[in-house]
Amino acid sequence: MRTEPSNVPLVEMKGIIKRFPGVLALDQVDFSLLPGEVHMLLGENGAGKSTLIKILSGAYTKDKGEIFVRGESVAIHSPVDSLQLGLSFIYQELNLVPQLDIARNMFLGMEPRALGFVKIKELYDKAAFYLNKFHMDLDPYAIVGTLSVTQQKLVEIARALIKDAQVLVLDEPTDVLEDRSRQNLFSVINELKRSHSVGFIYISHRYAEVHELGDRVTILRDGENEGTYRVAEITLDQIIERMIGRKIENQYPQIGAPQAQEALRVEDIRQGNKLNGISLNLRKGEIVSVTGLMGAGKTELGRAICGIDPCDAGEVYIEGKRINFSTPKRTIEAGLAYLAEDRKALGLILVHSIRDNFGLPSSARLSKLGFIDHRAITSECDQFMKKLDIKAPSMETKANQLSGGNQQKAVVAKWLGTQSKVLVFDEPTRGIDIRGKAEVYSLMNELLEQGIGILMLTSDYQEAVEMGHRTIVLYHGRIAKEFQRGEATEEDILRTAIGAEK
Ligand SMILES: Nc1ncnc2c1ncn2[C@@H]1O[C@H](COP(=O)(O)OP(=O)(O)OP(=O)(O)O)[C@@H](O)[C@H]1O
Ligand SMILES: [Mg+2]
Repeated sequence: MRTEPSNVPLVEMKGIIKRFPGVLALDQVDFSLLPGEVHMLLGENGAGKSTLIKILSGAYTKDKGEIFVRGESVAIHSPVDSLQLGLSFIYQELNLVPQLDIARNMFLGMEPRALGFVKIKELYDKAAFYLNKFHMDLDPYAIVGTLSVTQQKLVEIARALIKDAQVLVLDEPTDVLEDRSRQNLFSVINELKRSHSVGFIYISHRYAEVHELGDRVTILRDGENEGTYRVAEITLDQIIERMIGRKIENQYPQIGAPQAQEALRVEDIRQGNKLNGISLNLRKGEIVSVTGLMGAGKTELGRAICGIDPCDAGEVYIEGKRINFSTPKRTIEAGLAYLAEDRKALGLILVHSIRDNFGLPSSARLSKLGFIDHRAITSECDQFMKKLDIKAPSMETKANQLSGGNQQKAVVAKWLGTQSKVLVFDEPTRGIDIRGKAEVYSLMNELLEQGIGILMLTSDYQEAVEMGHRTIVLYHGRIAKEFQRGEATEEDILRTAIGAEK
């Protein structure tokens, strides 16, 4: 069902201005949301998307502007205010309590109670009911801290959906989700908008979702509203052009042939029931994509190879030399670097500046006689910021003041600076906008030309087949199939990933 334009908007934001030190994040932005519509909010990294919705949620205060909810002017000073107005948010960053289980997290602050006590059985029954309803294959008793990023995201989505809100705001919810979970989420969204006239504000860098899911789209560029359109009236190319001011020609670089020598060899890695004997190799200048569904073992494989989690068995060789991969320090020394999927936990020290974060893994190389060469770090950091177009007032900007995508770019820059022999990238372009992706790919290509081997763990099948010399598909902790470049379509990968093709 399409939206009724005559309806009073659920949300109206008028003339919103927000300034951070050195940045005008929002400049007179108007935005509205109608009942029963999915309104896509698009823009490059740092365009102001998250800031706009954080102003609506009360996480940030605006400098100027007005907000109306169901036609009435409202003052939103904190997330409690927005919740009372029937607005529910899923932020870009994870916001769960890692020590608590899934059910507790889902119902945090709204537990079913009698006489002040939490009704335990009801709590877990309800959690199980909703997880089932949203087709989420999760155990209500599982401790959130032990879950993968993807599973945690699903918990956040479930938590937002059960709040019975009239407005749901989702900041890059599918960024970490694979196809099946995305489709589940989309059908829940469609059902809620049809039967309950819920309105959705939906932020995404997956542009295919615009026409799949959206009713209207608003494009932000450098803090300004570049226009609001019905999705039926605008093509993807037009959207991208408005977003970045030009067309994107080649998203993926022309990648040359790998060298003959081996960069990495992994033999029969085993870890509980997660990794069931995986062997693979990687040549110098070669990029191999590893993909598969959530839980297939991508991240586990990367972490195991890089010594972050212990294994039951297996061997790892760098350039033919067997390495002791019992700790991350040993693997870094051996020339292996790991770029984690969860930038908050492993990627960045958020209270440190971009420069200091960049300097961390590179400091050993950029030292002279035991002293860290600060000038070298500064100049390299500056180069990477320019190359990746990291949007920040300066390299002294703290990592937590960057937009989500720019944080991700900073993580990438940090590891690109280490000059390792083998790089293991876990979801390297997650949350990065279209231009940033092209930049990351071209940097990877430069690394390949220098003879570095790249193992790319990714849930983006297109990225996997376009970038990889080979694509390995995992299924239940085993290699289901390996494709050479050009041999498989995204479709083939998906079929293998779900176990439909052996
Ligand atoms: N807490 C903060 N302190 C200082 N600057 C901030 C803060 N939050 C955001 N900014 C700045 O405001 C601008 C807009 O950031 P915002 O997070 O809204 O971008 P975004 O559109 O959500 O980008 P992304 O796609 O990368 O998530 C950026 O320049 C960012 O660095
Ligand atoms: Mg954001």
